[in-house]
This record gives sequence, C-alpha cells and structure tokens, in this order.
Amino acid sequence: MSDWLGLDGRRALVTGAGSGIGRSVAVGLAEAGAEVVAVDRDAVALSAAGMRRETCDISIETEVQALAERVGPCDIVVNAAGIIRPGALRDVALADWNALIAVNLTGYLLISRAFADGMAARGGGALVHVASISGTHAQANSGAYSASKAALIVMSQQLALELGPQGIRSNTVSPGMVRTPMTEEYYQAPGVAERRDRAVPIGRVALPEDIADVVVFLSSDRARYVTGADIIVDGGFTTTLMSWVPRPGYDEFR
Ligand SMILES: NC(=O)c1ccc[n+]([C@@H]2O[C@H](COP(=O)([O-])OP(=O)(O)OC[C@H]3O[C@@H](n4cnc5c(N)ncnc54)[C@H](O)[C@@H]3O)[C@@H](O)[C@H]2O)c1
Repeated sequence: MSDWLGLDGRRALVTGAGSGIGRSVAVGLAEAGAEVVAVDRDAVALSAAGMRRETCDISIETEVQALAERVGPCDIVVNAAGIIRPGALRDVALADWNALIAVNLTGYLLISRAFADGMAARGGGALVHVASISGTHAQANSGAYSASKAALIVMSQQLALELGPQGIRSNTVSPGMVRTPMTEEYYQAPGVAERRDRAVPIGRVALPEDIADVVVFLSSDRARYVTGADIIVDGGFTTTLMSWVPRPGYDEFR
C-alpha cells in the first residue's frame, strides 16, 4: 500500500504552482514520488522546496512553447493557474473578459497541447484541469469566470476524445469553496468564513489539500479508466438546493 498511487519517478508539470491549489498539488505529487516541475507566472511565489521551478505566462503561446522545450516530455500535466475578475455581463469591460478567457481557458489549451505529443511518446499520461462548480452553476458578477469554467469542462472532454487513442486521459476537478490567496479577501469580511462553513454539508470550506488529493489520484494510474469526467469536490455544497425549501415538520439542513 505504501506506493498505492505508483507515481514514483513520473514527470509532472503543475501550472499555478506558486499559490493555493496548484502549490498544494505540486507538493502532493512530489510527496507521492513524482518529479515535479512547478510553473507560475509569478517567479517570487515559486518557492516550493525540492522542485524544479519555471516561470511562464500560460496565456502567451511563445512562452508556453519555450517552456515545453525547456522541460521536455511529461507524464502528468496539471492546469491549476487561474484568475478571477469582477463584473456583471451587461457592462464587463471587454479587456477583462478577454484577459480572463486567455488564462482560464486558452492557457489551459496551450499547456495541454504543448505537452500532448511528448506525453504520447512516453506511452500516454494524464491531464488534469482545475475547473469549478461555477462551470455548472453560474456565478453572478464574476465576468467571464463561469463561462471560462463551463468551456473548460467541455474542452477537457474534447481532449479526452481526441487524445484517448494515444493513451492520454483528460479530466476536470471542480472545487466548491476553497480558502486560498485568490479568495482570502472574502474570508476577511466579518462573519463570511462562518457563514460559508455552515453552507457546506461537511461543515467547512475546503483547504487546498482537499482538492489536491483528488487531482493526485486522477493523475495516477489508479484512475486509469477515468477520462472525460468532471469530479466535483465541494463538500456536498451543490447538493443543498432542496435545503432552501421550507418544509415544516421535516429536519432542515440549515
Ligand atoms: N479558491 C477557490 O475557491 C476556487 C474554487 C474553484 C476553482 N478554483 C480554481 O482553482 C485554480 C487555482 O486557484 P487558487 O484559488 O489556488 O488561486 P491562487 O490565486 O491562489 O493561485 C493561482 C496561481 O495561478 C498563477 N497564475 C495566474 N495567471 C497565470 C498565468 N497567466 N500564467 C501562469 N500562472 C498564472 C498565479 O500567479 C497564482 O500563483 C483556478 O483555476 C481557480 O479558478 C478556485
């Protein structure tokens, strides 16, 4: 059981590895024995010890191509870099819309295809993309965020179809609420952390490791028959719809 995941010696690249979920995935893969390349556009944030570090903006094709040449073939690629920008659809600035799509969707494509041939040459591998429950449940006032995640979920399915014959699996993991530097400011507002904890059946918002463990599993051969899937990792939050309905006499979740 000690090496149940069988990741020893596998080469893994993780984007967004400078912070939050990506950092936790990089650490988790390294602890499981993988040789990890930690990638972020923020060189300062890339401080994880014992890992190769590479700076790259995933939204710029020439930078991604140069990264793929520097790093060489990988068995596992995890797309976890991401941004969020506020804005209602009626007036979100086109520059903000495009900037978000460029990272959260196009960047994931650029990274996936830059490493696909090398992965196929090694006999196959795994792509894992961090999506969001916002990809299946629209999140108001977040500009292109929900649209980017919805498109990512389907893009991952398309990658699964197109790359499956070369032994490459592609899956998304959709977290619910996770406390990371991306979301930390929400939790600083009085009462928000407690209200968010109460909204989740498991009783707390996620830590980055809660998401990373599922990503690590999907990266491994233990998930060898899982592809084109979207795995929701939200502590049960998206199952709570009926709990909003008042039903006197019945136990209520809230
Ligand atoms: N935190 C949450 O509640 C939550 C929930 C669902 C999904 N997600 C998704 O998880 C992923 C990770 O989010 P997080 O919460 O860890 O955020 P984070 O801000 O803590 O980390 C994101 C990292 O991505 C890097 N990055 C941003 N743009 C980049 C680019 N163009 N090129 C390279 N690196 C870039 C940042 O420098 C940062 O280090 C994102 O895709 C996010 O949408 C987060």
